[in-house]
Amino acid sequence: MVLLRLEGKVALITGAASGIGEETARLFVQHGAFVVIADVQDDLGNRVAESIGLDKVSYRNCDVRDEKQVEEAVSYTVEKYGKLDILFSNAGILGPLTGILELDIDTFDDIMATNVRGTAAMIKHAARAMVAKKTRGSIICTASIASCLGGTGPHGYTASKHAIVGLVRGTCSELGAHGIRVNCVSPYGVATPLVCRAYNWEPSEVEANSCSMGNLKGIVLKARHIAETVLFLASDESAYISGQNLAVDGGFTVVNQVVSSLTN
Ligand SMILES: NC(=O)c1ccc[n+]([C@@H]2O[C@H](COP(=O)([O-])OP(=O)(O)OC[C@H]3O[C@@H](n4cnc5c(N)ncnc54)[C@H](O)[C@@H]3O)[C@@H](O)[C@H]2O)c1
Repeated sequence: MVLLRLEGKVALITGAASGIGEETARLFVQHGAFVVIADVQDDLGNRVAESIGLDKVSYRNCDVRDEKQVEEAVSYTVEKYGKLDILFSNAGILGPLTGILELDIDTFDDIMATNVRGTAAMIKHAARAMVAKKTRGSIICTASIASCLGGTGPHGYTASKHAIVGLVRGTCSELGAHGIRVNCVSPYGVATPLVCRAYNWEPSEVEANSCSMGNLKGIVLKARHIAETVLFLASDESAYISGQNLAVDGGFTVVNQVVSSLTN
């Protein structure tokens, strides 16, 4: 018998039409949750919802850059399922792979609007709903290994992911008074459309590249590994964990690969 770790819980997941968010929506439902998928890819989002089962999942168009749409997505979730227990704020963009000398500031603004402003608006409205219903909720955001390391993504992306850690730490402090936990996950390279499109690589090429540069050998990082970490942070198994940036990176961000190859 499978233990349902989110039985009866209600979750809102942004960026769940694809990649890590989609995988997490599937896993949450397998663990007994009701899920609202919020994304801008309507066809894909609706198809994902239908494929999981419309009795458990619904799709809602929501551009996280627009606070009104964020507020409406939260209200929709509470009206449909009666409460909000879990927010997985995961929608994000990478932006073009250009250096600082060619940085396009409008594009930089768009990355910050999606990754940071969107996350702030999501935490704000989800937390309001949780506080109003006295829900001891769990908020999880997707950061990245670029949240603590330079050189692993374009500058706007790196800045935005560092900012997400700041939001998590700040809101963990305030929302702890309401029994709400706030954490983030920081994945290493996963073969999702975000990465495949940026490098114009097939998923197998992304995975081969991640494996060759990774610290932990003999395993291919999949969206499922990130989803399982998010499930842990969403469930009561992490009941006293808040304010953390949990890297799902096989040790990549704590090892200096160049020096370690000389010392061991
Ligand atoms: N794939 C990786 O290697 C990797 C590594 C570290 C962090 N991440 C982060 O994981 C998260 C999910 O990305 P993914 O890799 O699954 O890529 P993905 O492209 O498959 O999924 C991202 C989703 O976000 C949605 N989205 C983009 N802008 C949006 C907006 N304004 N409003 C609502 N939804 C929007 C997209 O439509 C898409 O469905 C992102 O925050 C990304 O930065 C990914």
